[in-house]
Amino acid sequence: MKSGVFISLEGIEGAGKTTVLKSIQTELQVPDRQIIYTREPGGTPIAERIRTLLTAHENKNMLPMTELLMMYASRNEHIQTIIKPALERGDIVISDRFVDASYAYQGAGRHIPEPILETLDQWVIESCMPDLTICLTAPVELCLERVYSRGNQDRFDEESASFFVATQLGYQQRAKDDPTRIRLIDSSKNPEAVSANVMTCIHDMIKAKSKKR
Ligand code: TMP
Repeated sequence: MKSGVFISLEGIEGAGKTTVLKSIQTELQVPDRQIIYTREPGGTPIAERIRTLLTAHENKNMLPMTELLMMYASRNEHIQTIIKPALERGDIVISDRFVDASYAYQGAGRHIPEPILETLDQWVIESCMPDLTICLTAPVELCLERVYSRGNQDRFDEESASFFVATQLGYQQRAKDDPTRIRLIDSSKNPEAVSANVMTCIHDMIKAKSKKR
């Protein structure tokens, strides 16, 4: 049924997502396919309003379960109104974060039991999973140096180093559990090499999916 290509980009704060995303936006061109760039939390007007609540510094006391449910509320809007229709049209969807972030941040970082996330997945995601997930990893100290040098931009930037260690471990566990979909890429190297590596993974996936069309 699905004929598009769904790619998500993940990694903790300071892992280098923004730089990689910029080079994808500059370099990726696929004949006869529209490319949709989107993000989570957010991606639709309602989901962007949920994002504002989630990331606001003044909401630093938000309960973990509230945070999780708002991530999934945003995701539901995003999937139903942007991602699914785009994939049905055959577009390429590139999302700056998707469900793996919930397992890393709310699961591993905030200790919400995975069965709760799996239940939400059944309701919200159904089968709408990425074909490819690029997860950037770098030593947490390096990531935090990058975050501090650009200044705390949202509520998540204020989290402790131990939170980000747990979050990155959460991503690494997800990658171990689903190595075919999730590609861990070392983003401590020079940005050109990292972007080249990411572009190869993306081109390979688009080629593989195009053959099946
Ligand atoms: P961003 O800084 O990458 O735009 O994402 C905003 C924050 O939202 C980021 O710190 C990670 C967090 N987040 C979660 O905690 N759970 C999720 O499911 C998603 C999609 C993002």
